[in-house]
Amino acid sequence: MPKLKAAITGVGGYVPDFVLSNKLLETMVDTTDEWIHTRTGIKERRILKGENMGTSVLAANAIKNLLEKTNTDPDSIELVICATVTADRTFPDTANIACTKVGIKNAFGFDLSAACSGFLFALSTGASYIQSGMYKKVIVVGADKMSSIVDYTDRTTCVIFGDGGGAVLLEPAEDENGYHNAILKADGTGEKYLHMPAGGSRKPPSIETVQNKQHFIYQDGRPVFKAAVTGMSTAVKEVMAKNQLTKDDISWVVPHQANLRIINTVASMMDFPMEKVMLTIEKYGNTTAATIPLCLNEYESQLNKGDKIILTAFGGGFTWGASYLTWAY
Ligand code: UT7
Repeated sequence: MPKLKAAITGVGGYVPDFVLSNKLLETMVDTTDEWIHTRTGIKERRILKGENMGTSVLAANAIKNLLEKTNTDPDSIELVICATVTADRTFPDTANIACTKVGIKNAFGFDLSAACSGFLFALSTGASYIQSGMYKKVIVVGADKMSSIVDYTDRTTCVIFGDGGGAVLLEPAEDENGYHNAILKADGTGEKYLHMPAGGSRKPPSIETVQNKQHFIYQDGRPVFKAAVTGMSTAVKEVMAKNQLTKDDISWVVPHQANLRIINTVASMMDFPMEKVMLTIEKYGNTTAATIPLCLNEYESQLNKGDKIILTAFGGGFTWGASYLTWAY
């Protein structure tokens, strides 16, 4: 019997309306539009405003868009995996809250945390449930309200991040196209360069942690930049070798959108022309687990059945990887 394959059969996305432009950031911290654009490629990012508005709002809107575009009955969904590092609460999981918001009543769901690689890890997990034959309709959503953990007095981090959500529907493949495999890695020695100092079980919230601003992202940018270039380019090479692909075979590369200079460096190391590289960083910035599905959603009309696509990401953990799929519709 041929091995069951999972395929992405639809994509959806959502970004909030409020635009935080570089010009507006200039009025908030000691920075310039010129610095941000030349050092990161970002012009603006979206911010989720309003009381009681958590990541589940981003996830739910992305899923709603996906269900509408694919004309899918919410009752037919069996599993929802939400990749995020900015869950609404420590528990219950944001996946469950998002399901209730969109009327998905027959599914189970859970969150998966792998920072900027979250979508890649969740996609591999969701695909495995399809490949095993256990489920036929799985949603993988990447969503992050990064503005909830960004210190808007720290110019080294606040210019990079934005809020957004992106979702894909996974179903059994009808032909040879679909999700093939991935190279996924994690290395806890990267923790010191990129983390949130407090709020977890090691250092629970206290008046002191709030006063010391320890509930915001801490990032030592330069070592993360270097590790991102090495991690993504190595994973892409490995997944290409695993699938006997040359650079000319590849229709699209979908990189995590952290910094345009990282993307340019990885693309030039692999000799991929930039026309084959999906980019949304200029208008959305780094939306962590949402960048890759948001790219797929934005470029959906340019994708053709059979297109060979490499997804790649690097993020906190460190976590990183590359996935290979062929577009199924
Ligand atoms: O998505 C998850 C993984 N994260 C990443 O992949 C991010 C990787 N790192 C980066 O993208 C870059 O390291 C940053 C964008 C975070 C920083 O860019 P950089 O080119 O590495 O800058 P730097 O930290 O080396 O700083 C260079 C200079 C410094 O000034 P001095 O010390 O040379 O006088 C900074 O203080 O730029 C200064 N600087 C700024 N200036 C204006 C840092 N941030 C800003 C700013 N505006 N926003």
